[in-house]
Amino acid sequence: MDRIFGRAWLILGHESQIRNPGDFFTTRMGRESVIVTRHTDGSVRVLVNRCAHRGARVCDAVAGTAAEFVCAYHGWTYGTDGSLRGVPLPGGYDRPAAEMTKGGLARVPRVATYRGFVFASLAEHGPSLTEFLGPLRASFDDFVDRAPAGEVETAGGVFKHAYHGNWKLVLENHNDTVHPAFVHASSIWAAREQPAAAGEAYSEIGVRQMLQNGAPWEVWENTGLWVAGYGHSWMGDYHDDDRLVAALDHPGFAEYRAALERRLGREGTARVLGELRWNSIVYPNCSFMSQFRQLRVVHPIAVDRTVVHAYSFRLKGAPEQMFRDTIAFSNVVNGTASPVLTDDLEVYERTQHGLGGRRTDWVYLGRGHGGDVAAGDGAFRGGTGTSEVHIRNQFAAWLEYMTAEA
Ligand code: FES
Ligand SMILES: [Fe+2]
Repeated sequence: MDRIFGRAWLILGHESQIRNPGDFFTTRMGRESVIVTRHTDGSVRVLVNRCAHRGARVCDAVAGTAAEFVCAYHGWTYGTDGSLRGVPLPGGYDRPAAEMTKGGLARVPRVATYRGFVFASLAEHGPSLTEFLGPLRASFDDFVDRAPAGEVETAGGVFKHAYHGNWKLVLENHNDTVHPAFVHASSIWAAREQPAAAGEAYSEIGVRQMLQNGAPWEVWENTGLWVAGYGHSWMGDYHDDDRLVAALDHPGFAEYRAALERRLGREGTARVLGELRWNSIVYPNCSFMSQFRQLRVVHPIAVDRTVVHAYSFRLKGAPEQMFRDTIAFSNVVNGTASPVLTDDLEVYERTQHGLGGRRTDWVYLGRGHGGDVAAGDGAFRGGTGTSEVHIRNQFAAWLEYMTAEA
């Protein structure tokens, strides 16, 4: 927790969650509970959610708007920048409280945003966010550039799920292209047995996505898989269903494409929609799908317990149908009762259980080893899309964090 989650840039959320001064949400950075606020000067602040008096959690709400935060224990009050604003019965303390508490709530030392996504690091020093993200910035660019108004916003609530397993399992899985045929076999077969929907049923997006998980081996082998510094990776896309991929020619996307063309022109739109990515992983706490408007934040709770929050995004300026598709897609891949997600959670728990045995130490991550090729900008590409290169890359970053000098 300290060496990785205490050092890396962690994604916390999106600026649309704190649009106006006083808006805030709470989240975690490893073990720390933090409050992310929009201060009165418009800046984003990240405050440690621990009262400077005797340590109570100051803000208990998930999100909201507040002029100040009042600790429930003895009433100490803090501004949206964490500054100590008020101490009841001040005369009773041996020194002025501001002097005692370094001025209020502890501030997380580094905060930065990229294309509206909010990151912070608990380490005073380290690479800039730009350097940290490296070529992964293109995945965030892809996410935002797809919005006809050039901006995205979180919407539709948050799916939260937990599993009894280590946080690394979810990141290893999201670029694992061998598993769908096995882990998701039951939903692939169920989808194949679905009668064709008359007209466009709400469930259609989900059924189509489940069918795509059954893509033939050549498709997975030929899908691009890239890795970059700090443990990040991203995949090319494997979808060929024109109702799911806006770059293809389904009439369901006509209005959206027209809206995008008004901002980017025909060529610009083709370029943006032609950027086909599946999961992008920002090690150690984020996985997102720029093309499908989904972002997941991974919270380790214990060595064998992980919570994942899944956000859906609205492309501003896009027809409402796009957002309905986003939610339908989210229900099938991120929903707590999703027939796809539940398969993955089952296999994480089986893996955790298996690894808990004491008889063997090693796992085998050799698929594609030796076949990686340099892809420019410090990135490498797996020899095939089914390589385990992303897991080797994650463990290289893990080793670096774990062995770096404090
Ligand atoms: S612990 Fe917060 S006011 Fe005492
Ligand atoms: Fe899966």
